[in-house]
Amino acid sequence: MTHRPLVFAHRGGADALPEHTLGAYLRALEEGADGLECDVRLTRDGHLVCVHDRNLKRTSNGRGLVSGKTLAELEPLNFGSWHPGYPADEDLPDLSRLLTLDRLLTALRECGRQVRLLIETKHPSRHGADVERRLVELLRRHGLADGRPDNLVQVTVMSFAALALRRVRTLAPAIPTVYLLEILPPGVGRGKLPFGARIAGPGVGLVRARPGLVPALRQAGHQVYVWTVNEPDELEMVLEHQVDGVISDRPGFVLERLAKV
Ligand code: G3P
Ligand code: CA
Repeated sequence: MTHRPLVFAHRGGADALPEHTLGAYLRALEEGADGLECDVRLTRDGHLVCVHDRNLKRTSNGRGLVSGKTLAELEPLNFGSWHPGYPADEDLPDLSRLLTLDRLLTALRECGRQVRLLIETKHPSRHGADVERRLVELLRRHGLADGRPDNLVQVTVMSFAALALRRVRTLAPAIPTVYLLEILPPGVGRGKLPFGARIAGPGVGLVRARPGLVPALRQAGHQVYVWTVNEPDELEMVLEHQVDGVISDRPGFVLERLAKV
């Protein structure tokens, strides 16, 4: 295969293991994923935690909103036992403990190989730039906000909200950004992305519905990362489009297909 897309484990490879746990992320890297996709939210006391949903109910034994709890209140919860891939009779902190972005960055820097990390800021509001501000502060503390190509962890920030991309661009212009797309906002179909976003992140459904979209974005000089590519027909479609990144809950399945020339 001449054009090989990067393979990203969506939420750490959410199909096989509990999403957003350190164990899931490390397993995906062992399998050979080039990178990870991670959602982040703020706790009540301002810590960035790797949790997709606003509410704790689906992925933990807690109740209520992530944003309504302090880190100390979230730490004792089990974030793994809800998932069918969680071994019933074992105590595996890496598969059940809440993951803070700080811990994830530390673990990835200790991996000893280059890892690409796509960080999606979840629901930035018009009235507070806190998620992006704290994210950039944390990345600076880890020496990862300068976009240097030799950093062991290559960070890219993603959002469905153009507002979030603007904030990241203002706070840390060297960090590449992805504009996530579920529907097609004006201009994007002609290859225009807001606020210096280098990469477009359309959903696989949008790519199927708009076959001209990927060529237009690539023609305009953008890379294209598609989510969430879990099925064989979806994978074949995005490979035909020669996309630059495939974000999947099943990174092992994508890697296996890519290994067949
Ligand atoms: O990679 C983008 C994708 O993760 C967006 O959807 O809901 O899984 O965060 P969601
Ligand atoms: Ca996401």
